[in-house]
Amino acid sequence: MRLDVVTIFPEYLEPLNVSLVGKARARGQLDVNVHDLREWTYDRHNTVDDTPYGGGPGMVMKTDPWGAALDDVLAEGYEDGAHGPVLVVPTPSGRPFTQELAVELSERPWLVFTPARYEGIDRRVMDEYATRMPVYEVSIGDYVLAGGEAAVLVVTEAVARLLPGVLGNAESHRDDSFAPGAMANLLEGPIYTKPPQWRGHGIPDVLLSGHHGKIARWRRDEALRRTTRNRPDLIERCDPGAFDKKDREMLSILGWRPGPDGRFGRDPEAVEE
Ligand code: ADE
Repeated sequence: MRLDVVTIFPEYLEPLNVSLVGKARARGQLDVNVHDLREWTYDRHNTVDDTPYGGGPGMVMKTDPWGAALDDVLAEGYEDGAHGPVLVVPTPSGRPFTQELAVELSERPWLVFTPARYEGIDRRVMDEYATRMPVYEVSIGDYVLAGGEAAVLVVTEAVARLLPGVLGNAESHRDDSFAPGAMANLLEGPIYTKPPQWRGHGIPDVLLSGHHGKIARWRRDEALRRTTRNRPDLIERCDPGAFDKKDREMLSILGWRPGPDGRFGRDPEAVEE
């Protein structure tokens, strides 16, 4: 996979040399190219922003540097033999970045990121490139960052670990908390490693029992417990067919009941476990 990032803070992307993404680059599984947007400015002050039409606070990133940069970055990529680019525009106004979108992006051969600073990029830039390639405007969460660079790191890491051969163990994706297409997306419960005692804290006996069936059941119960507590929306969205008899017993203990459509919701009478 080829990645291009155009930014006014190339040094912000240094973490792409580290850990999983860094290793994928070193192995040639990922070809990352970071570009400084200011190289495509032609005035004395290397201006990339201007005041918004219609007034209002903040500044807007100008069309010309982005247009010139993206034309060159795309031309260079095509010359290197890349194909099928998609533009990934991090913005708090984008669609939520999910595991499903990470999988979709991981299937594309070439991602071009345009992290913005200030209030964002002049709309015409996205409109122009949308005539040539898919444009994904993505938000990594309901909060506003000072710029899109951190979002590029997030998206890149989520996508890179899905590339064939990057994680080593292909099965690990299937069990991801948010694996798309799963009947139920549950959060993972607590995990433990040696030593068996630490500062007076032990580990649940069942994990030492060697009984695979009981361990699997315990893990599932803990996943239900954690999901009901931290992400009740995931339980509410679950296909009720995803829950077996034991799941239903656990959900009942946790104060959850099936509604008229079969989907589970929190029993308003129940006391928090
Ligand atoms: N830029 C600023 N905030 C952002 C967010 N939440 N997601 C993606 N890009 C952003």
